[in-house]
Parts: sequence; structure tokens; C-alpha cells
Amino acid sequence: MKGINRVQTGIKGLDKMLSGGLISERPYILSGPPGSGKTTLGMQFLLEGIKQGERVLFVALEEPVNEVKYNMTSLDLNLKGLDILDANSDIRRYEPTPVMEISSKSKVQKMWDLPDTIRKTSRFKSTVVSVHSLQNTLKQEFKRAGYKRIVIDSLTALKYFCMVGEEDIYLQSFLRFLSESKVTSLLTVETPENYGLTPEIFLARGEIRLNKTWEKGQIKRWISVEKIRGSEHEEKVYPIEIRKGEGVVVLDKNI
Ligand SMILES: Nc1ncnc2c1ncn2[C@@H]1O[C@H](COP(=O)(O)OP(=O)(O)OP(=O)(O)O)[C@@H](O)[C@H]1O
Ligand SMILES: [Mg+2]
Repeated sequence: MKGINRVQTGIKGLDKMLSGGLISERPYILSGPPGSGKTTLGMQFLLEGIKQGERVLFVALEEPVNEVKYNMTSLDLNLKGLDILDANSDIRRYEPTPVMEISSKSKVQKMWDLPDTIRKTSRFKSTVVSVHSLQNTLKQEFKRAGYKRIVIDSLTALKYFCMVGEEDIYLQSFLRFLSESKVTSLLTVETPENYGLTPEIFLARGEIRLNKTWEKGQIKRWISVEKIRGSEHEEKVYPIEIRKGEGVVVLDKNI
């Protein structure tokens, strides 16, 4: 269609499943159970942006940033050029600590410059990230750096720690903020076994789902495109593998 820009995900098979890529400047859900490959696929999406000369940003909400770096380096992914924002909340939401502004605490860092050691979380550090302060920080960063792609890892953590009480309203305005900012965003969602239809699935412009099953005592991984508004897409489920040096790879020869 005229005027529609496609954003390549960095995973060849997935781009074919998406009829060429994601429609740009929209927010998408990347869902899956623990260990299914969400962070890896999100990282590949950002690295593809770097390859195309774009500025890209990873927002870490559920793992210390050094740990993200360590894990992705162990997969041999080249993280040069990747910016990361530490938006981890060190205090759980049920602790009565005043919410602090993330903008005074966290700055975007170059992933490459992070120390290789895994950070020990200080037990008494009291940063609580509010969705408003995260949004403000992102707004400033979008203006400063002109990010084209962003991964929020994870929306599950953002909802749990930062959208207490009024998840649906916050969620709607956060997704609207992302699309108005003209970035193409992937928001990871951790799914339990009995995963049903949740508000983010309705509100996002599309959903890519990763899955894990067992076959003859072996974990098998799968990928499907569950919905993409305004675009044709593949409706078959395809096998994937997570490989060193490559990340998530769609295995089917026909795709
Ligand atoms: N070096 C490696 N080579 C091959 N596979 C690896 C390697 N490192 C990790 N993996 C696989 O990738 C999986 C992790 O993928 P990833 O962290 O992207 O999943 P996730 O869906 O983000 O998980 P979580 O919900 O826990 O954040 C590991 O569980 C492991 O099976
Ligand atoms: Mg992850």
C-alpha cells in the first residue's frame, strides 16, 4: 500500500511471515513464556535498525542492564551502537516508598560501555519507576536522539511495578505515546500457560507470539504472527531455534 513503510525485524523468516516487515511507527506485542526468546528477538530487531543506520533503544525493566549485556554477549550478538536505559525498579510495589523520578536517576548508556561484571543489586537502593517519569524520560530521549526503534522489556514488569491500580488507562496512554513518538516499538509480555486475551493484545497494533513445547523430552520453540492490523500475514506456526551468533532463526525452508 502507498505510504506504508515496512520495518524489517532482523529475522528473515519473520519478515516473510509479516509480508515484508512490521508497519512502521506502531507498537507491537512480543509475547511468550519465560525462556522462549523474547529478549533475544527484541535485540535482533534493534540490531537490524543499527545496520540500517538508525538510533535504537533498549529499555530494561526486568533484568539489570549488565545482565542483559552478559546474556546477549553469550549469544555472540554484536551490541555496538545499542543504547540502553536502566528502568529497573529496585523496590517492589508493595513497599511504601515514595515514587522517585526516573529521569533524575537513570540515563541512557551505551550498552557497549557497560562493565562486563554482573551487577549485584543493592538491597537498600530505593528507585521506584513511575510510568509518567519513564514516559517523560523517553520523550526527552526521543527528542535528543531521534530513536526509530525501541524495545520495552518487559511490559509485564512495567505494568506490575509502574501501573499500579489503573493498568488499562496507563497502558492505553503509554501505547498512544509510543505511536505519537513515531517509533516502531516491540513490547515484551510474559505469558503464563493459560494465556488468554489481555488488554495489551487489544490495544497494540499487532502481536508476535513465541512458544515452547516439549517433544520426546526436548524443548521445541515456535513463532506465530497472531495479529497485525492493516496487513496480510502468515497464519502458520513455524519452528524456531535460538542459535549462538544468530539469535532467533525461523527453521522452515519455505519461509
Ligand atoms: N549461548 C546460547 N546459545 C543458545 N541458546 C541460548 C544461549 N543463551 C541462551 N540461550 C537460550 O535462549 C533462552 C533465553 O532467551 P531469552 O532470554 O531471549 O528469553 P525470554 O523469553 O526473554 O525469557 P524471559 O521471559 O526469562 O526473559 C535461554 O533460555 C536459552 O535456552
Ligand atoms: Mg527476557
